[in-house]
Amino acid sequence: MKAIVVTDQAAGAAGMKLVDRPEPQAAINDVVVQVHASSITGDEISWPSTWTDRLGRDRNPSIPGHELAGVVTALGYGTTGLSVGQRVFGLTDWHRDGTLAEYVAVEARNLAPLPGDVDFTVGAALVMPGLTAWQGLFEHGRLRAGQSVLVHGAAGIVGSMAAQLAREAGAYVIGTGRTASRQTALDFGAQEFVDLDNDILEDVGGVDLVFDVLGGDIVKRSAGMIRTGGTLVTITGPTEARPVGGLTIDFVVVPDRAQLSEIVQRLREGRLRTNIGVVSTLDDAVLAFNPAKRVKGKTIIRVRP
Ligand SMILES: NC(=O)c1ccc[n+]([C@@H]2O[C@H](COP(=O)([O-])OP(=O)(O)OC[C@H]3O[C@@H](n4cnc5c(N)ncnc54)[C@H](OP(=O)(O)O)[C@@H]3O)[C@@H](O)[C@H]2O)c1
Repeated sequence: MKAIVVTDQAAGAAGMKLVDRPEPQAAINDVVVQVHASSITGDEISWPSTWTDRLGRDRNPSIPGHELAGVVTALGYGTTGLSVGQRVFGLTDWHRDGTLAEYVAVEARNLAPLPGDVDFTVGAALVMPGLTAWQGLFEHGRLRAGQSVLVHGAAGIVGSMAAQLAREAGAYVIGTGRTASRQTALDFGAQEFVDLDNDILEDVGGVDLVFDVLGGDIVKRSAGMIRTGGTLVTITGPTEARPVGGLTIDFVVVPDRAQLSEIVQRLREGRLRTNIGVVSTLDDAVLAFNPAKRVKGKTIIRVRP
């Protein structure tokens, strides 16, 4: 099968190559999926899971990309809950070969059925931002209707999903970003916008939750904007920042079938939309992910036309 591999951690996405690889086999409780659309997450090539298995053994060259929409072509020993020919979407194991390939083996429980009226491109674009935003807001952030949330990078891939889901859940949403992102963040559901290039972040005060996608100095300063006992959630790794009397949670997104079903249902009802920047082919994926060619929004690789 055709697949993209990475071989050089320092080169990141710029070191991707299109190669021939053997088709994967379904292990116990796995399915094999013929990938129709897939993508990668911003920094995943720098994550240790791209380079080793769970025992720390080298798996270079590995196939990156862990988001997919496609069709089940084979079941592993004992696999239940999905069937051959079924349309699915979901998130694959970080430590196994990924989805920038014609086929991928993945645990069935990592996938949800993709309704027939949702295009594969859209399905693939929902997975990572949808699950990350859902888990950050509702599981870790325990956001409820009537509360306020500040979403950093609200025009970005994860942030635009978080802004929509939070608004839809009845929260008051303050988005942040660069000056040029104001209108996009408002269009995705932010009710106020803090321009991090010009406004003073500290002027915002007393929010119940901060959802951070930026890290660094911004996440440190954000703890002070949270009411006593509130929560800081970040997806950019560990931080010392703590709201007074409250919690800080940094997390990596996990697969979740029930959450995927909730998310795709909102899309079908017009309550949610994707933030897709570019759709490319597997043959052109190396070019599409070249950092020098970066476009805003999710880059989706349409593996099958
Ligand atoms: N832990 C997890 O499970 C998990 C899951 C998904 C993603 N992530 C990580 O989360 C981060 C965000 O991912 P993403 O896909 O949402 O990226 P993205 O689409 O680039 O979103 C980031 C947003 O923040 C803006 N931004 C960046 N730096 C800024 C700054 N200094 N001041 C103001 N605005 C700034 C960007 O604007 P511009 O477009 O103008 O730069 C963009 O709108 C990445 O580091 C990614 O690896 C982690």
